[in-house]
Amino acid sequence: MDVFPDDFRARLAELMRLRRDVRRFRPDPAPAEVIEAMLAAARLAPSVGLSEPWRFVHVASEAARAAALANFQQANARALAGYSGERARLYAGLKLSGMREAPVQLAVFCDDSTPKGAGLGAATMPETRRYSVVAAVTNMWLTARAAGLGMGWVSILDPERLARDLDVPADWSLVAYLCIGWPEENLEEPELERAGWESRAPAPPRPLVR
Ligand SMILES: Cc1cc2nc3c(=O)[nH]c(=O)nc-3n(C[C@H](O)[C@H](O)[C@H](O)COP(=O)(O)O)c2cc1C
Repeated sequence: MDVFPDDFRARLAELMRLRRDVRRFRPDPAPAEVIEAMLAAARLAPSVGLSEPWRFVHVASEAARAAALANFQQANARALAGYSGERARLYAGLKLSGMREAPVQLAVFCDDSTPKGAGLGAATMPETRRYSVVAAVTNMWLTARAAGLGMGWVSILDPERLARDLDVPADWSLVAYLCIGWPEENLEEPELERAGWESRAPAPPRPLVR
């Protein structure tokens, strides 16, 4: 198909508009076929040199989940201590992870030393391997939302401690910790906007012209 129909393009825009970072989940299980579809979408992401450096850990055991949750709680307490006054009060009231309740949790790593792609692009900009993993996460986010599932990205973590606790290879660096499940509600605006923390820019970015 050379050009997708108008209706499809309008709905794609709608999907992007309605994708949310979700931190509040219903406890019921997430359908395995949607998780599979999300992983299939990850595989289709662009990657530098076709290096496909994304690596996934399904954080499933009680011990692994407890370690990840404790990691978040400690990092979050440290982050809170970095604010004062009204910002601290606001921060303390935010819900910044669904790690207690999300039925599916995936830790997403970048294999910084994958030989795949033979260094094309990554030799000059090694960070592009991690950018490729972010592209995969975005595909997963949209696939989840289209199926009615919510996904939340948790970055308030000590990445080295998580890598140790999950016992991953030494060359894997943490890119994202994803909580996935049925959302308690579908918001039209970012939760941080609703909470008064920050607001979305009113208009699309305007590139500098050189
Ligand atoms: C790289 C990255 C890290 C993030 N880390 C967190 C996090 O630790 N906790 C959290 O509640 N939200 C986190 N978010 C979600 C953002 O707060 C959210 O994307 C932003 O407020 C816009 O809201 P929306 O995704 O619902 O449009 C993260 C998002 C990205 C892209």
